[in-house]
Amino acid sequence: MKALVYHGPGQRSLDEHPDPVIQELGDAIVRITHTTICGTDLHILKGDVPTCTPGRVLGHEGVGVVEAVGSGVAGFKPGDHVLISCITSCARCDYCRRGMYSHCETGGWILGNVIDGTQAQYVRIPHADTSLYHIPAGAAEDALVMLSDILPTGFECGVLNGRVAPGGSVAIVGAGPIGLAALLTAQFYSPAQLIMIDLDANRLEVAKRFGATHVIQSSAGNVAEAVRSLTGGKGADTVIEAVGVPATFELCQDLVAPGGVIANVGVHGVKVDLHLERLWSHNVTITTRLVDTVTTPMLLKTVVSGKLTPASLITHRFRLDEIDQAYETFGHAAQTHALKVLIEP
Ligand SMILES: NC(=O)c1ccc[n+]([C@@H]2O[C@H](COP(=O)([O-])OP(=O)(O)OC[C@H]3O[C@@H](n4cnc5c(N)ncnc54)[C@H](O)[C@@H]3O)[C@@H](O)[C@H]2O)c1
Ligand SMILES: [Zn+2]
Ligand SMILES: [Zn+2]
Repeated sequence: MKALVYHGPGQRSLDEHPDPVIQELGDAIVRITHTTICGTDLHILKGDVPTCTPGRVLGHEGVGVVEAVGSGVAGFKPGDHVLISCITSCARCDYCRRGMYSHCETGGWILGNVIDGTQAQYVRIPHADTSLYHIPAGAAEDALVMLSDILPTGFECGVLNGRVAPGGSVAIVGAGPIGLAALLTAQFYSPAQLIMIDLDANRLEVAKRFGATHVIQSSAGNVAEAVRSLTGGKGADTVIEAVGVPATFELCQDLVAPGGVIANVGVHGVKVDLHLERLWSHNVTITTRLVDTVTTPMLLKTVVSGKLTPASLITHRFRLDEIDQAYETFGHAAQTHALKVLIEP
């Protein structure tokens, strides 16, 4: 089969790769119909993710059709249309029993990391019964790729951990696909203010269309002052960090209101300063989370019913043969205005 293979920092190519085969009783083989590229794939290509070693097929998002199942799989059969979760869950270990699939002892984020991923014609999915989701007949399958990772990430790590509430104020730092997913799903709770902050004017324009009440271009001046003036001098009740660099986590500490929450979503590669000399008396909560994808069944219903329309995040479409161009387009988002690039094998 054809697959996008990581060959070490800065190196990737579309290669002829052995077809995946059933290895465990609980495995399924899925023929990919739609996949996409995540910011985390770019982190891997920079060499930031040492667990991902050369020779690995990248990708942890996708939808497809079941091709074959192991003898232990009860809930899926060949021909079933499925959504692939970026997080693999055994449903049995201590962590899974607590709903923390991200830390599953034989799963978690393994796809396109420690086992071959979805940017290929076929993929092997371990623990298929509890890591795949049936797609209802008639659903627009391309948009469902957004449910593999970005929607549950924005919702669980940002909105739920950030305790977004009716009438509250929310500031989201970073208007990439993850920040925009948090913006879309925060609206389930009717906050009064949804303030989006980014360097990129185009992404802020998108944020306005997606329901932001205010946008702040962070290169333009004092973001903290702007947020305070929008919130009666208090700051935001929920501050979501959706970038993953020290400057933006530090900015979040300037934006949070007394009693508020800083919900970190960004993947951080270096240490960040925590200003306890100021925050110790502000009754704030700081949360961190690797997405668990426990809310995927709920989010799937909101997408299928049309309450949430993630298709609007798709800006470009490519064939698997053109995946090189897809990486170039996604990797230069400021110039290409890319949000999510859809790849169809
Ligand atoms: N916690 C999790 O489980 C999880 C899961 C998936 C992704 N992530 C992480 O979430 C983060 C966001 O993902 P994404 O795909 O949206 O990334 P992205 O790179 O597409 O978006 C980041 C945005 O931040 C903006 N930005 C950069 N520096 C800024 C600054 N100083 N001030 C304001 N804005 C700034 C960029 O212009 C960009 O629009 C990444 O770190 C990603 O690795 C975390
Ligand atoms: Zn991802
Ligand atoms: Zn488990």
